Amino acid sequence: MWPGNSTLATHTLDANAVRTHPRCGPVDQAPRKYRGPHQLSRNGWANFAERLERSEEIATILSLTAGHARVLDVGGGTGELTRAVAAQIGKCTTVEPHRDRVAVLDAGGPAAAAVEVHPGRAEALPFADRSFDLVYTAWVLHYVQDLQQALEEIARVCDDTNPDATIVVVGGSPDNELVRLLNDVCVPIAGEQPDHQGFLLAEAARVFSDHGFSEFSLLRTEAALHFPEVSEPDRITAAAATLVDFWFEGHARAADMRRALEPALREHFARRPHAVGDQATVLVARAPRLDNPNTGTA
Ligand SMILES: C[S@@+](CC[C@H](N)C(=O)[O-])C[C@H]1O[C@@H](n2cnc3c(N)ncnc32)[C@H](O)[C@@H]1O
Repeated sequence: MWPGNSTLATHTLDANAVRTHPRCGPVDQAPRKYRGPHQLSRNGWANFAERLERSEEIATILSLTAGHARVLDVGGGTGELTRAVAAQIGKCTTVEPHRDRVAVLDAGGPAAAAVEVHPGRAEALPFADRSFDLVYTAWVLHYVQDLQQALEEIARVCDDTNPDATIVVVGGSPDNELVRLLNDVCVPIAGEQPDHQGFLLAEAARVFSDHGFSEFSLLRTEAALHFPEVSEPDRITAAAATLVDFWFEGHARAADMRRALEPALREHFARRPHAVGDQATVLVARAPRLDNPNTGTA
């Protein structure tokens, strides 16, 4: 049985089943290849993170890291997850390319001593093969330059000789309200291809499967950006700025995007007055266990 979540043991999937699973949808809109990275803004993400409440997502990550000793967080950002894991198991290593975020990770908080920070990218992880028992990456794959290489690297550094070796990828669920608003309103103005979070998770399953991590589960977690502003116009203004600055800060058409978001946000806040959901699908990959009856290898 897998540690920490008994439902995982009974719902394992292979990589093809991940690709066609509704939690990686919309399946009929999946692209043929990676659209290339979004630009994660410097300041926009900090404002975004201040409004984000994701305790369920963090609890899910902690339920998976529990009991592991060597854990790597790929793309640690400013370390909210990294520090939570370090506080839980005593140490967490992270790789992060952005200089300012590395500085925040280094400065740390009470658990800083337990966070080991390596400036670097997912595509070239600065570790020997099989250095970690659990590798996780949250909300990072849509920022990498080379998706295949990043996934190969994640699999390479995860120790498949450890029977509990696990890889965890957090991405957007098909009903993610934030991604839907950006896809519907801002992406067409930018003239870009839409974001498809399920495609990234399915690609992860395909690559990990080639590396022996061929047993998968898909979990779902709730999270949301909160807009406590009392008046609706203030909420719409704040949300439009937060969303546009997240992926399109400094874009030549950022003002058009903010304007275009107003009716969509009015409609959204009529249904959900103070929040925009940032719901996640969590892909959990493991190497098949001899004692797992679902793999048929016992
Ligand atoms: C939205 S943030 C998520 C941060 C953190 N994982 C979290 O969930 O709080 C995405 C992070 O991925 C990092 N990133 C961008 N490209 C990357 C790459 N090629 N390899 C690793 N991390 C990358 C960014 O600098 C940023 O810190």
